[in-house]
Amino acid sequence: MNARRLNFEVLTLFPGILEGPLNESILKRGREKGLLNVTLRNIRDYTEDKHKTADDSPYGGGAGMVLKPEPIFKAFEAMKTEHPGEKVLTILLSPQGRVLNQERAEQLSEEQRLIVLLCGHYEAIDERVVRALVDEELSIGNYVLTGGELAALVVIDAATRLLPGVLGDEESAYRDSFGDGLLDHPHYTRPAEFRGMKVPEALLSGNHAEIEKWRRRESLKATLLKRPELLETAELTGKDRKLLEELKRESEA
Ligand code: ADE
Repeated sequence: MNARRLNFEVLTLFPGILEGPLNESILKRGREKGLLNVTLRNIRDYTEDKHKTADDSPYGGGAGMVLKPEPIFKAFEAMKTEHPGEKVLTILLSPQGRVLNQERAEQLSEEQRLIVLLCGHYEAIDERVVRALVDEELSIGNYVLTGGELAALVVIDAATRLLPGVLGDEESAYRDSFGDGLLDHPHYTRPAEFRGMKVPEALLSGNHAEIEKWRRRESLKATLLKRPELLETAELTGKDRKLLEELKRESEA
């Protein structure tokens, strides 16, 4: 089987916002390994007037500006011309979209189509763009950003780290928080004692079974204390449920 890879095309008025993060750390490595391909396309390059106007005032009046349809359609069509016959999935980053979660990130990491991330900026985007070009609206949380660029980076990052071969240790993507619907357990490194604070005995034991047991218990505990609503959908064994009962009794004591 061919290696899984991800192809993104970001349509934005501010490609500079994405450049730095794409050239650091894991995203940079993913790109260097050919597992991640991101093309930044500046919507302003597709404006036609001498002031390169990408937005205009809203019909019906009111404050704020609206991104004009022409440059976005032109940018989209240029992208299509450069990828003849390729299937695309077009996602508009918007606070009105479904909120991104780990499940959607996993699906996106398996996406074979070219993923077009359309970033709005300012107040709004002409509705004809949404109707004609957009397959899905995606939000990264219930708050409003100045534009979709940071959200696009979040989508790229969350999907890319799940690609096999991107993280050094393939498993680590799944061991982290949310892999099985639980938060991650605490982590420690040397020294065994730092300013009077000791690393838990179980981790120093060298006993693999005991370490795994400690980690599972701490994962359940962190989830119970910090994000109890996740327990409703987490993948739990009978043993986990017993441990949870124990942890609940402890926290109430
Ligand atoms: N653009 C502005 N706010 C956003 C959000 N919360 N998620 C995605 N795109 C956005």
